[in-house]
Amino acid sequence: MDKVFISRRIPNKGIETLKNAGLEVKVWGSAIPPIHEELLEMTAQADALICMLSDKIDSSFLKKNTQLKVISNYAVGFNNIDISTATELGIPIGNTPDVLTDATADHAFTLMLAVARKILDSNRSIVENKWKNWEPMGFLGQDLRGRTLGIVGMGRIGQEMARLCQSAFDMKIIYFSNTSKPEIDKKMQAKKVSFEELLEQSDVISVHTSLNEGTKSIFNKEAFHKMKKSAIFINTSRGEVHDEIDLREALGSGIIWGAGLDVTNPEPMSADNPLLSLPNVVITPHIASATVDTRANMALIAAQNIIKGLKKEKLIGFVNPQVYK
Ligand code: DGY
Repeated sequence: MDKVFISRRIPNKGIETLKNAGLEVKVWGSAIPPIHEELLEMTAQADALICMLSDKIDSSFLKKNTQLKVISNYAVGFNNIDISTATELGIPIGNTPDVLTDATADHAFTLMLAVARKILDSNRSIVENKWKNWEPMGFLGQDLRGRTLGIVGMGRIGQEMARLCQSAFDMKIIYFSNTSKPEIDKKMQAKKVSFEELLEQSDVISVHTSLNEGTKSIFNKEAFHKMKKSAIFINTSRGEVHDEIDLREALGSGIIWGAGLDVTNPEPMSADNPLLSLPNVVITPHIASATVDTRANMALIAAQNIIKGLKKEKLIGFVNPQVYK
């Protein structure tokens, strides 16, 4: 009987699917994630692994676990895994695309509105007993109707965020992407632009790119200085895409207007991080895919990837299909 180790508790839908397929399932029981050594020790006894985006599955980890027949990441992003080493070792890697598209785009949209309408800062003023009068000039936000949305990474989630913003606010869509998307250009009257044009023209920038060497810290001092002073920056992809010190400086000195982040670097962010005390920032703890249904569907796909991988079949979300060639 093949053994599967799951590095955190995930929704039952995934665990039951594995058990129904006749697999032996071991789940990390503690609410505190395993440290690297614990993860190594538990994985060494397994034929297959379901890991989290916070588990570092690097080259040395993989070389110590060549018995693994498949690894399934409980996330769509897979920057935590050394894919080229896994492929060299013949280990198929799975992820969970599609099922989290809507939830993640919904969250980016929520952050955009929360920043635009100063929801967190104005709520804080009540909690701190600072609301004394109705203020004609208090907490003035940004209108979004007809404004320009710049998407970085026009994949599934970027496209859904664009659709939401266009439906709700008739926003004009521009995007920066490595690939042209003629069908999107036509459907949304969207326009592919250079990174510089996107920075200069957008009223809201929403980041949906994967993290790689080309996207690491692309939002840095130089980039923030090219943005409009009224611009809102939203990041629901990976914290390493923006430089946190440069972002803080841009927000604190009025270089840009506000930011909504679901991702930080590092994660978790510490409670005394100075970004948290800025009035024009809304930060959530990497919860964009955290709805009951979405997390259950992610668990199902993660389990199905394991079952398929153990049978040497094509995974549902298949990061390195070349592994079978
Ligand atoms: C992912 O799946 O990569 C997301 O970041 C999870 O919310």
